[in-house]
Amino acid sequence: MSTDHEDRIKQFLGLMTPEEKLGQLQQLAWAWDTGPGTSSTEEAEAAARKGLLGSVLNVFGAASTNALQRIAVEETRLGIPLLFGLDVIHGYWTTFPIPLAQAAAFDPAVTETDGEIAAREARSNGVHWTFAPMMDVTHEPRWGRIAESHGEDPYLTSRYAAAKVRGHQGTDLAAPDRIAACAKHFAAYGGPEGGRDYNTVDVSEQRLRNLYLPPFKAAVDAGVASVMAAFNTISAVPAHANPHTLTRILKEEWGFDGLVVSDWTGVLELIAHGFAEDGAAAARRALGAGVDMEMVSTTFAEFGRELLARDAITEERLDDAVARVLRLKLRLGLFERPYVDESAAVTEPSPATRAAARDAATRCMVLLKNDDQTLPLRPGLRSIAVVGPLADSGDLLGTWTVPDAQRRFPAVTVAEGMRAAVPQAHIVCVPTGTATGAAADSAGQAEAVTAAASADFTVVAVGEPPALSGEAAVRSDLELPGDQRELIAAVAATGKPFAVVLFAGRPLVIGDWLDSAPAVLLAWHPGLEAGHALADLLTGAVSPGGKLPTSFPRAVGQIPVHYNHERTGRPYDPAQPDEKYVSKYLDLADGPQFPFGHGLSYTTFTTGEPSLSRTGIPADQLSDGATVEVTISVRNTGDRAGDEVVQLYVHDLAADIVQPVRRLRGFERVTLGPGESTVVLFRLGAEDFGYWTNDPEGVFVLERGAIDIYAGNSSTARKCSRLTIN
Ligand code: BGC
Repeated sequence: MSTDHEDRIKQFLGLMTPEEKLGQLQQLAWAWDTGPGTSSTEEAEAAARKGLLGSVLNVFGAASTNALQRIAVEETRLGIPLLFGLDVIHGYWTTFPIPLAQAAAFDPAVTETDGEIAAREARSNGVHWTFAPMMDVTHEPRWGRIAESHGEDPYLTSRYAAAKVRGHQGTDLAAPDRIAACAKHFAAYGGPEGGRDYNTVDVSEQRLRNLYLPPFKAAVDAGVASVMAAFNTISAVPAHANPHTLTRILKEEWGFDGLVVSDWTGVLELIAHGFAEDGAAAARRALGAGVDMEMVSTTFAEFGRELLARDAITEERLDDAVARVLRLKLRLGLFERPYVDESAAVTEPSPATRAAARDAATRCMVLLKNDDQTLPLRPGLRSIAVVGPLADSGDLLGTWTVPDAQRRFPAVTVAEGMRAAVPQAHIVCVPTGTATGAAADSAGQAEAVTAAASADFTVVAVGEPPALSGEAAVRSDLELPGDQRELIAAVAATGKPFAVVLFAGRPLVIGDWLDSAPAVLLAWHPGLEAGHALADLLTGAVSPGGKLPTSFPRAVGQIPVHYNHERTGRPYDPAQPDEKYVSKYLDLADGPQFPFGHGLSYTTFTTGEPSLSRTGIPADQLSDGATVEVTISVRNTGDRAGDEVVQLYVHDLAADIVQPVRRLRGFERVTLGPGESTVVLFRLGAEDFGYWTNDPEGVFVLERGAIDIYAGNSSTARKCSRLTIN
């Protein structure tokens, strides 16, 4: 904490009226890239002019933000600058793959680069603060917001959370190319019952701390500037009014001195939750629990005076909340430089940022299946058909884009990418219907099949468009929407070679069509350079190396299905598939269709046994910081270069709390030439072997006993060594 900042905060607090203080806690919405003076911006503009506004969201554009900032800085008594926030989730102009896709790269550098580029573009357009990274661990593919997440694993998500914070914030928030990050949604938003957005989450303390909280802790340790409360309840107490999570854990246990912002009208929604009778009670509950800034609804500003007067909120709490707002503004250097240089605003992606987005997208894609080396395409093909609802679609950016990015900078389509990559081949593109499941979606299928029948190779571009994932985009049926299965079947019936390129913002249920498709490449929503990145992989210019950050279910009825589940007293044993009284479905094979960590390459790899620097270690040495070194060898056994992700999982065989059957605790993506090998080193310590108990005070224990350490290239890794903690 800078003492200079703290002194200035104290001075301001001494000067401010209660209304001005409450005003700093208010964030209002704007109408995108528009300056003051339009009817839709009246409320925010008027509040800014009175000095009763702390922040504005959904505002961007160098000229627009400067015009609004001038009101706050030049027309108000104290001249406190406004804080401008925007959801810059996977890119500003340069749209990167969705976060779930980025997680599939198993390479946090991908998200760090996204964070850096987005920060530069956004800050130059007057944006100070993004509501990212989203770090809700989730086992719910029905939930559309899985697209914004990093999947089902807390360790992978934690590594990405820290990297994104670094990418956005750098080491100095006041730098002209950095923005403040926001860890969201605090907490357990990824566990809604039935997968329905905003729904109830009832969670034990141990699951909260072992599954949902680690990425937030990692973000706080990485210096994240702000945290956003979640829309859900946590064990019947709304996250927006939850003193246990917001104050006890976040602010006290973790010592977080940054800003807690509500989600959009999240404070007022305490009334709908049945947790507050009216706006005054909502404000009392939320502010009292630890929310510092209210997004869009206005209960703090409306009822704050009255609550202070009747001691329903304390002046200390109010001052603490205001201090957190001012601290962020000071850290961002807004008092010194409230405006941006309009002539330096970045207005489009550059060749370099496009190249970075392309590289990221190639790293994110996952080769799910590749029978008989169907991919990569053989050199010298004369004709390639590109068919399907997403064959020539630029709507592949993903769920969150800056307004206007989709119109101004749509994704490179699959057909465009193929034309650029294979200029000597005749590319026939037949877009078919829509991928949304709308009535007319079989349009063009007959033509597509004719094209496939006469082409040397066909790329079938199917999936769900971005509108089917993201916020409030929940699906109960996870199969390919509409007639896309029929399209694949009809192309397969031509008997000609083809590959399915699957676009998705979530794990889909890959039905019977999987058997008829010789190759399936999962592209997610790859962002701006979609088509070029795909062509890089389809042609073999780059070998796929992505891995699934979330299990792909066989059927919706099996959800949740995830690799890090707890063991039951009657686990299913593949050696005895007919045993009835075990935990299984009568009508479905055990486990997911594709497990966490799965992903193929155009080459092959072998991973060696995990070799431990010691087979036993005293618990107290681990508690004092000692580590066990685990080395794992990996060899490219094929005849071309490629990437492999070496994965390390642990399992505590017997503990005071039943442990997940596997927990990812290390991964490294390596690139190896044909025949080449390397050894990857992991260091495991107390944090990797211990766990949080159900004690609400936050008790982390490291027990004595046996730990199995698995190494391999997916969560089904079998090679194992045992460590004894004594
Ligand atoms: C979402 C947040 C987002 C906010 C502001 C909400 O509906 O839940 O993730 O940051 O809107 O756009």
